[in-house]
Amino acid sequence: MVDKKTEGLAGIQAGETAICTVSAEGHELRYRGYSIQELAGGASFEEVAYLLIHGELPTSSVLEDYRNRLKSFRELPSALKLVLENIPKTAHPMDVLRTGCSMLGTLEPEGKTRDHFAIADRLLSAFPSMLAYWFRFWKEGKRIALNSGDASLAGHFLHSLQGGSVEEARRQMLEVSLVLYAEHEFNASTFAARVTASTLTDFYSAITSAIGTLRGSLHGGANEEAMALISRFRSPDEAEKEIKVMLSKKEKIMGFGHRVYKECDPRSDIIKKWARELSKKAGDTVIYPVAERIEAVMWREKRLFPNVDFYSAPAYHFCDIRTDLFTPLFVMARITGWAAHVIEQRANNKLIRPAATYIGPSARAFVPLQKRG
Ligand code: COA
Repeated sequence: MVDKKTEGLAGIQAGETAICTVSAEGHELRYRGYSIQELAGGASFEEVAYLLIHGELPTSSVLEDYRNRLKSFRELPSALKLVLENIPKTAHPMDVLRTGCSMLGTLEPEGKTRDHFAIADRLLSAFPSMLAYWFRFWKEGKRIALNSGDASLAGHFLHSLQGGSVEEARRQMLEVSLVLYAEHEFNASTFAARVTASTLTDFYSAITSAIGTLRGSLHGGANEEAMALISRFRSPDEAEKEIKVMLSKKEKIMGFGHRVYKECDPRSDIIKKWARELSKKAGDTVIYPVAERIEAVMWREKRLFPNVDFYSAPAYHFCDIRTDLFTPLFVMARITGWAAHVIEQRANNKLIRPAATYIGPSARAFVPLQKRG
Protein backbone atom coordinates (compact mmCIF):
# COMPACT_ATOMS: atom_id res chain seq x y z
CA MET A 1 0.00 0.00 0.00
CA VAL A 2 1.16 3.52 -0.78
CA ASP A 3 1.27 5.66 2.36
CA LYS A 4 -1.56 8.24 2.13
CA LYS A 5 0.90 10.92 3.28
CA THR A 6 3.11 10.37 0.25
CA GLU A 7 0.35 10.02 -2.34
CA GLY A 8 1.11 12.15 -5.38
CA LEU A 9 4.77 11.99 -4.23
CA ALA A 10 3.93 14.51 -1.48
CA GLY A 11 6.98 15.14 0.67
CA ILE A 12 9.18 12.74 -1.33
CA GLN A 13 12.70 13.97 -2.07
CA ALA A 14 12.79 13.19 -5.79
CA GLY A 15 16.21 14.68 -6.51
CA GLU A 16 18.65 17.49 -5.76
CA THR A 17 18.56 21.04 -7.09
CA ALA A 18 20.63 24.20 -6.73
CA ILE A 19 17.98 26.38 -8.38
CA CYS A 20 15.29 27.10 -5.83
CA THR A 21 14.19 26.57 -2.22
CA VAL A 22 10.59 26.56 -1.04
CA SER A 23 9.93 26.52 2.71
CA ALA A 24 6.85 24.64 3.85
CA GLU A 25 5.65 27.37 6.22
CA GLY A 26 5.54 29.68 3.21
CA HIS A 27 7.75 32.35 4.64
CA GLU A 28 10.54 31.83 2.18
CA LEU A 29 11.00 31.29 -1.53
CA ARG A 30 14.50 31.77 -2.93
CA TYR A 31 15.88 31.58 -6.44
CA ARG A 32 19.55 30.52 -6.25
CA GLY A 33 19.69 31.93 -2.71
CA TYR A 34 17.97 35.29 -3.36
CA SER A 35 14.62 35.93 -1.67
CA ILE A 36 11.56 36.38 -3.87
CA GLN A 37 10.69 39.63 -2.08
CA GLU A 38 14.06 41.16 -3.00
CA LEU A 39 13.95 39.90 -6.57
CA ALA A 40 10.36 41.03 -7.14
CA GLY A 41 11.16 44.41 -5.60
CA GLY A 42 14.46 45.11 -7.31
CA ALA A 43 15.22 42.87 -10.30
CA SER A 44 13.90 42.88 -13.84
CA PHE A 45 12.50 39.67 -15.28
CA GLU A 46 15.49 39.43 -17.63
CA GLU A 47 17.90 39.56 -14.66
CA VAL A 48 15.95 36.77 -12.98
CA ALA A 49 15.86 34.74 -16.21
CA TYR A 50 19.64 35.06 -16.47
CA LEU A 51 20.08 34.16 -12.80
CA LEU A 52 17.99 31.01 -13.13
CA ILE A 53 19.45 29.78 -16.41
CA HIS A 54 23.09 30.79 -15.90
CA GLY A 55 23.36 30.55 -12.10
CA GLU A 56 24.45 34.12 -11.20
CA LEU A 57 22.99 37.62 -11.49
CA PRO A 58 24.33 39.41 -14.59
CA THR A 59 26.55 42.51 -14.42
CA SER A 60 25.10 45.54 -16.24
CA SER A 61 27.09 44.90 -19.42
CA VAL A 62 26.17 41.20 -19.43
CA LEU A 63 22.53 42.18 -18.90
CA GLU A 64 22.62 44.62 -21.79
CA ASP A 65 24.05 41.93 -24.09
CA TYR A 66 21.44 39.46 -22.81
CA ARG A 67 18.56 41.88 -23.45
CA ASN A 68 19.84 42.53 -26.97
CA ARG A 69 20.20 38.84 -27.61
CA LEU A 70 16.64 38.19 -26.43
CA LYS A 71 15.35 41.05 -28.57
CA SER A 72 17.02 39.55 -31.63
CA PHE A 73 15.10 36.30 -31.04
CA ARG A 74 11.59 37.82 -31.10
CA GLU A 75 10.88 37.33 -34.81
CA LEU A 76 9.29 34.00 -35.80
CA PRO A 77 10.04 31.87 -38.89
CA SER A 78 7.36 32.19 -41.59
CA ALA A 79 6.63 28.44 -41.43
CA LEU A 80 5.79 28.84 -37.74
CA LYS A 81 3.56 31.85 -38.45
CA LEU A 82 1.70 29.75 -41.00
CA VAL A 83 1.11 27.03 -38.41
CA LEU A 84 -0.15 29.65 -35.93
CA GLU A 85 -2.55 31.00 -38.55
CA ASN A 86 -3.94 27.49 -39.00
CA ILE A 87 -4.62 26.86 -35.32
CA PRO A 88 -8.35 27.47 -34.86
CA LYS A 89 -9.61 30.62 -33.18
CA THR A 90 -11.37 28.37 -30.68
CA ALA A 91 -8.17 26.67 -29.52
CA HIS A 92 -6.94 27.30 -26.01
CA PRO A 93 -3.84 29.55 -26.11
CA MET A 94 -1.95 26.95 -24.05
CA ASP A 95 -2.39 24.58 -26.99
CA VAL A 96 -1.05 27.33 -29.23
CA LEU A 97 2.15 27.50 -27.18
CA ARG A 98 2.46 23.72 -26.96
CA THR A 99 2.10 23.46 -30.74
CA GLY A 100 4.33 26.47 -31.40
CA CYS A 101 7.07 25.01 -29.20
CA SER A 102 6.86 21.70 -31.00
CA MET A 103 6.92 23.34 -34.44
CA LEU A 104 9.93 25.47 -33.55
CA GLY A 105 11.65 22.24 -32.55
CA THR A 106 11.27 20.97 -36.12
CA LEU A 107 12.51 24.22 -37.69
CA GLU A 108 15.39 24.95 -35.34
CA PRO A 109 16.25 21.57 -33.82
CA GLU A 110 18.71 21.09 -31.05
CA GLY A 111 22.05 19.96 -32.39
CA LYS A 112 25.60 20.98 -33.12
CA THR A 113 24.71 24.57 -33.98
CA ARG A 114 22.13 25.08 -31.24
CA ASP A 115 22.71 24.08 -27.63
CA HIS A 116 20.26 24.15 -24.72
CA PHE A 117 21.22 27.70 -23.64
CA ALA A 118 20.49 29.01 -27.14
CA ILE A 119 17.12 27.23 -27.24
CA ALA A 120 16.19 28.49 -23.76
CA ASP A 121 16.79 32.09 -24.92
CA ARG A 122 14.95 31.48 -28.18
CA LEU A 123 11.85 30.06 -26.47
CA LEU A 124 11.90 32.81 -23.85
CA SER A 125 11.69 35.40 -26.63
CA ALA A 126 9.47 33.42 -28.98
CA PHE A 127 6.60 32.51 -26.61
CA PRO A 128 5.30 36.12 -26.22
CA SER A 129 5.58 36.57 -29.98
CA MET A 130 3.72 33.32 -30.74
CA LEU A 131 0.91 34.21 -28.39
CA ALA A 132 0.45 37.78 -29.59
CA TYR A 133 0.77 36.82 -33.27
CA TRP A 134 -1.90 34.10 -33.04
CA PHE A 135 -4.20 36.24 -30.86
CA ARG A 136 -4.15 39.33 -33.10
CA PHE A 137 -4.41 37.23 -36.29
CA TRP A 138 -7.64 35.68 -35.10
CA LYS A 139 -9.02 38.71 -33.27
CA GLU A 140 -8.29 41.39 -35.88
CA GLY A 141 -7.16 39.51 -38.97
CA LYS A 142 -3.78 41.27 -38.63
CA ARG A 143 -0.34 39.79 -39.21
CA ILE A 144 1.44 41.91 -36.61
CA ALA A 145 5.11 42.87 -36.70
CA LEU A 146 7.08 41.34 -33.84
CA ASN A 147 9.71 44.04 -33.47
CA SER A 148 7.97 46.24 -30.89
CA GLY A 149 11.32 47.75 -29.86
CA ASP A 150 10.46 47.50 -26.15
CA ALA A 151 13.55 46.67 -24.11
CA SER A 152 11.67 44.33 -21.77
CA LEU A 153 9.85 41.12 -22.53
CA ALA A 154 6.88 42.33 -20.47
CA GLY A 155 6.62 45.55 -22.50
CA HIS A 156 7.10 43.69 -25.77
CA PHE A 157 4.29 41.29 -24.92
CA LEU A 158 1.77 43.96 -23.89
CA HIS A 159 2.65 46.10 -26.87
CA SER A 160 2.35 43.18 -29.32
CA LEU A 161 -0.86 41.90 -27.74
CA GLN A 162 -2.72 45.18 -27.41
CA GLY A 163 -1.01 47.60 -29.83
CA GLY A 164 -0.45 51.27 -28.95
CA SER A 165 1.62 52.45 -26.03
CA VAL A 166 1.94 50.41 -22.87
CA GLU A 167 0.77 51.88 -19.56
CA GLU A 168 3.73 51.85 -17.14
CA ALA A 169 1.79 50.41 -14.18
CA ARG A 170 0.66 47.48 -16.33
CA ARG A 171 4.18 46.85 -17.59
CA GLN A 172 5.54 46.90 -14.05
CA MET A 173 2.87 44.55 -12.76
CA LEU A 174 3.55 42.08 -15.57
CA GLU A 175 7.28 42.30 -14.92
CA VAL A 176 6.76 41.46 -11.23
CA SER A 177 4.32 38.70 -12.06
CA LEU A 178 6.83 37.09 -14.45
CA VAL A 179 9.44 37.17 -11.67
CA LEU A 180 6.98 35.51 -9.25
CA TYR A 181 6.02 32.81 -11.75
CA ALA A 182 9.57 32.11 -13.00
CA GLU A 183 10.50 29.15 -10.81
CA HIS A 184 9.17 26.90 -8.07
CA GLU A 185 11.36 23.86 -7.42
CA PHE A 186 9.88 20.40 -8.23
CA ASN A 187 6.34 21.53 -9.13
CA ALA A 188 4.38 19.25 -11.48
CA SER A 189 5.36 20.86 -14.81
CA THR A 190 9.04 21.20 -13.86
CA PHE A 191 9.08 17.62 -12.71
CA ALA A 192 7.47 16.59 -16.01
CA ALA A 193 10.21 18.50 -17.85
CA ARG A 194 12.89 16.73 -15.80
CA VAL A 195 11.32 13.29 -16.31
CA THR A 196 11.23 13.93 -20.05
CA ALA A 197 14.78 15.29 -20.11
CA SER A 198 16.01 12.30 -18.12
CA THR A 199 15.38 10.02 -21.12
CA LEU A 200 17.99 12.09 -23.02
CA THR A 201 15.41 13.41 -25.45
CA ASP A 202 15.66 16.90 -26.98
CA PHE A 203 15.05 20.19 -25.17
CA TYR A 204 11.83 21.06 -27.02
CA SER A 205 10.24 17.74 -26.01
CA ALA A 206 10.92 18.46 -22.34
CA ILE A 207 9.36 21.93 -22.61
CA THR A 208 6.35 20.61 -24.54
CA SER A 209 5.72 18.09 -21.73
CA ALA A 210 5.92 20.91 -19.22
CA ILE A 211 3.43 23.11 -21.08
CA GLY A 212 0.91 20.27 -21.23
CA THR A 213 1.34 19.67 -17.51
CA LEU A 214 1.01 23.33 -16.55
CA ARG A 215 -2.32 23.65 -18.39
CA GLY A 216 -4.36 21.70 -15.79
CA SER A 217 -6.48 23.53 -13.25
CA LEU A 218 -4.70 22.01 -10.23
CA HIS A 219 -1.51 23.68 -11.50
CA GLY A 220 -1.12 26.73 -13.79
CA GLY A 221 -4.71 26.63 -15.01
CA ALA A 222 -5.84 27.75 -11.54
CA ASN A 223 -5.41 31.46 -12.41
CA GLU A 224 -8.01 31.19 -15.18
CA GLU A 225 -10.38 29.27 -12.92
CA ALA A 226 -9.90 31.85 -10.17
CA MET A 227 -10.93 34.64 -12.55
CA ALA A 228 -13.98 32.69 -13.69
CA LEU A 229 -14.97 32.24 -10.04
CA ILE A 230 -14.42 35.86 -8.97
CA SER A 231 -16.37 37.16 -12.00
CA ARG A 232 -19.43 35.11 -11.05
CA PHE A 233 -20.28 37.33 -8.08
CA ARG A 234 -21.86 40.78 -8.13
CA SER A 235 -20.97 41.62 -4.55
CA PRO A 236 -18.79 40.42 -1.64
CA ASP A 237 -21.89 39.24 0.24
CA GLU A 238 -23.01 37.11 -2.68
CA ALA A 239 -19.47 35.70 -2.94
CA GLU A 240 -19.42 34.83 0.76
CA LYS A 241 -22.75 33.02 0.55
CA GLU A 242 -21.82 31.03 -2.56
CA ILE A 243 -18.31 30.12 -1.40
CA LYS A 244 -19.77 28.69 1.79
CA VAL A 245 -22.20 26.60 -0.28
CA MET A 246 -19.33 25.40 -2.49
CA LEU A 247 -17.27 24.44 0.54
CA SER A 248 -20.21 22.57 2.06
CA LYS A 249 -20.36 20.53 -1.16
CA LYS A 250 -16.59 19.90 -0.83
CA GLU A 251 -15.88 21.81 -4.04
CA LYS A 252 -12.38 23.12 -4.57
CA ILE A 253 -11.86 26.85 -4.73
CA MET A 254 -9.20 27.46 -7.33
CA GLY A 255 -6.32 29.70 -6.36
CA PHE A 256 -6.26 28.47 -2.75
CA GLY A 257 -4.03 26.00 -0.96
CA HIS A 258 -0.70 24.55 -1.90
CA ARG A 259 1.10 21.20 -1.85
CA VAL A 260 4.19 22.57 -0.07
CA TYR A 261 3.22 25.81 1.69
CA LYS A 262 1.19 25.34 4.85
CA GLU A 263 0.56 28.89 6.11
CA CYS A 264 0.90 31.26 3.19
CA ASP A 265 2.32 31.63 -0.29
CA PRO A 266 5.01 34.36 -0.11
CA ARG A 267 4.19 35.43 -3.68
CA SER A 268 0.55 36.15 -2.94
CA ASP A 269 0.94 39.42 -0.99
CA ILE A 270 3.26 40.79 -3.67
CA ILE A 271 0.80 40.30 -6.50
CA LYS A 272 -2.17 41.23 -4.28
CA LYS A 273 -0.73 44.75 -3.90
CA TRP A 274 -0.68 45.09 -7.67
CA ALA A 275 -4.21 43.75 -8.01
CA ARG A 276 -5.37 46.38 -5.48
CA GLU A 277 -3.52 49.20 -7.21
CA LEU A 278 -4.78 48.31 -10.68
CA SER A 279 -8.30 47.84 -9.34
CA LYS A 280 -8.19 51.41 -7.94
CA LYS A 281 -6.86 52.77 -11.21
CA ALA A 282 -9.66 51.01 -13.10
CA GLY A 283 -12.33 52.41 -10.72
CA ASP A 284 -13.38 48.85 -9.87
CA THR A 285 -15.80 48.45 -6.98
CA VAL A 286 -16.70 44.78 -7.37
CA ILE A 287 -13.91 42.44 -8.51
CA TYR A 288 -11.23 43.28 -5.98
CA PRO A 289 -13.64 43.51 -3.01
CA VAL A 290 -15.12 40.14 -4.05
CA ALA A 291 -11.62 38.62 -4.22
CA GLU A 292 -10.75 39.95 -0.75
CA ARG A 293 -13.96 38.56 0.69
CA ILE A 294 -13.29 35.13 -0.81
CA GLU A 295 -9.84 35.25 0.80
CA ALA A 296 -11.39 36.10 4.19
CA VAL A 297 -14.01 33.34 3.95
CA MET A 298 -11.45 30.72 2.88
CA TRP A 299 -9.22 31.55 5.83
CA ARG A 300 -12.07 31.65 8.33
CA GLU A 301 -13.75 28.46 7.13
CA LYS A 302 -10.81 26.29 6.00
CA ARG A 303 -7.57 27.96 7.09
CA LEU A 304 -6.68 28.05 3.39
CA PHE A 305 -4.69 30.97 1.96
CA PRO A 306 -4.51 32.35 -1.58
CA ASN A 307 -1.66 31.03 -3.70
CA VAL A 308 0.08 33.08 -6.39
CA ASP A 309 -2.67 32.33 -8.91
CA PHE A 310 -5.54 33.91 -7.01
CA TYR A 311 -4.60 37.60 -7.08
CA SER A 312 -2.69 37.21 -10.35
CA ALA A 313 -6.09 36.71 -11.95
CA PRO A 314 -7.58 40.17 -11.10
CA ALA A 315 -4.18 41.81 -11.68
CA TYR A 316 -4.12 40.48 -15.25
CA HIS A 317 -7.81 41.23 -15.69
CA PHE A 318 -7.24 44.93 -14.91
CA CYS A 319 -4.61 45.00 -17.66
CA ASP A 320 -7.35 44.03 -20.13
CA ILE A 321 -5.78 40.63 -20.71
CA ARG A 322 -8.28 37.98 -21.77
CA THR A 323 -8.69 35.24 -19.16
CA ASP A 324 -7.56 32.36 -21.39
CA LEU A 325 -4.18 34.10 -21.77
CA PHE A 326 -3.45 33.91 -18.02
CA THR A 327 -1.88 30.44 -17.98
CA PRO A 328 0.14 31.18 -21.15
CA LEU A 329 1.60 34.16 -19.25
CA PHE A 330 2.74 31.62 -16.67
CA VAL A 331 4.52 29.73 -19.50
CA MET A 332 6.26 32.92 -20.61
CA ALA A 333 7.76 33.15 -17.11
CA ARG A 334 8.24 29.49 -16.18
CA ILE A 335 10.20 28.68 -19.34
CA THR A 336 13.15 30.10 -17.38
CA GLY A 337 12.73 27.67 -14.48
CA TRP A 338 12.01 24.74 -16.81
CA ALA A 339 15.13 25.53 -18.84
CA ALA A 340 17.28 25.76 -15.70
CA HIS A 341 15.97 22.40 -14.48
CA VAL A 342 16.44 20.62 -17.83
CA ILE A 343 20.03 21.90 -17.94
CA GLU A 344 20.58 20.81 -14.33
CA GLN A 345 19.03 17.38 -14.96
CA ARG A 346 21.28 16.84 -17.96
CA ALA A 347 24.39 17.83 -16.01
CA ASN A 348 23.98 14.86 -13.66
CA ASN A 349 21.44 12.66 -15.37
CA LYS A 350 19.80 9.54 -14.07
CA LEU A 351 16.69 8.16 -15.77
CA ILE A 352 13.65 9.03 -13.61
CA ARG A 353 11.64 5.86 -13.39
CA PRO A 354 9.88 5.16 -10.07
CA ALA A 355 8.17 1.92 -9.04
CA ALA A 356 4.44 1.29 -8.51
CA THR A 357 2.50 -0.80 -6.01
CA TYR A 358 0.50 -3.28 -8.05
CA ILE A 359 -3.19 -3.51 -7.08
CA GLY A 360 -4.58 -5.40 -10.13
CA PRO A 361 -5.64 -9.07 -10.57
CA SER A 362 -3.21 -11.77 -9.47
CA ALA A 363 -1.47 -13.93 -12.10
CA ARG A 364 -3.95 -15.77 -14.37
CA ALA A 365 -3.83 -17.89 -17.51
CA PHE A 366 -4.46 -16.25 -20.87
CA VAL A 367 -7.60 -17.52 -22.65
CA PRO A 368 -7.41 -17.40 -26.49
CA LEU A 369 -10.13 -15.34 -28.24
CA GLN A 370 -11.89 -18.45 -29.71
CA LYS A 371 -12.41 -19.85 -26.22
CA ARG A 372 -13.61 -16.58 -24.66
CA GLY A 373 -16.94 -16.71 -26.52
N1 COA B 1 -10.45 24.55 -1.95
C1 COA B 1 -11.12 23.79 -1.07
N2 COA B 1 -10.54 22.81 -0.38
C2 COA B 1 -9.23 22.59 -0.56
C3 COA B 1 -8.49 23.36 -1.45
C4 COA B 1 -9.13 24.37 -2.16
N3 COA B 1 -8.48 25.13 -3.01
N4 COA B 1 -7.21 22.94 -1.43
C5 COA B 1 -7.17 21.92 -0.57
N5 COA B 1 -8.40 21.72 -0.05
C6 COA B 1 -8.76 20.70 0.91
C7 COA B 1 -9.10 19.41 0.17
O1 COA B 1 -10.42 19.32 -0.24
C8 COA B 1 -8.70 18.37 1.18
O2 COA B 1 -9.71 18.31 2.14
P1 COA B 1 -10.10 16.89 2.82
O3 COA B 1 -8.86 16.46 3.55
O4 COA B 1 -11.25 17.24 3.71
O5 COA B 1 -10.45 15.97 1.70
C9 COA B 1 -7.48 19.00 1.86
O6 COA B 1 -7.65 20.40 1.73
C10 COA B 1 -6.17 18.56 1.22
O7 COA B 1 -6.22 18.88 -0.18
P2 COA B 1 -5.49 18.06 -1.32
O8 COA B 1 -6.02 18.49 -2.64
O9 COA B 1 -5.53 16.59 -1.03
O10 COA B 1 -4.00 18.53 -1.07
P3 COA B 1 -2.85 18.60 -2.13
O11 COA B 1 -1.59 18.81 -1.38
O12 COA B 1 -2.92 17.46 -3.07
O13 COA B 1 -3.33 19.90 -2.89
C11 COA B 1 -3.48 21.64 -4.35
C12 COA B 1 -2.60 20.95 -3.31
C13 COA B 1 -2.76 22.90 -4.83
C14 COA B 1 -3.66 20.69 -5.55
C15 COA B 1 -4.86 22.01 -3.75
O14 COA B 1 -4.69 22.91 -2.66
C16 COA B 1 -5.80 22.56 -4.79
O15 COA B 1 -6.44 21.77 -5.50
N6 COA B 1 -5.90 23.91 -4.89
C17 COA B 1 -6.70 24.51 -5.92
C18 COA B 1 -5.94 24.53 -7.24
C19 COA B 1 -4.86 25.57 -7.25
O16 COA B 1 -5.06 26.70 -6.81
N7 COA B 1 -3.71 25.18 -7.81
C20 COA B 1 -2.58 26.06 -7.93
C21 COA B 1 -1.51 25.68 -6.98
S1 COA B 1 -0.18 26.86 -6.98
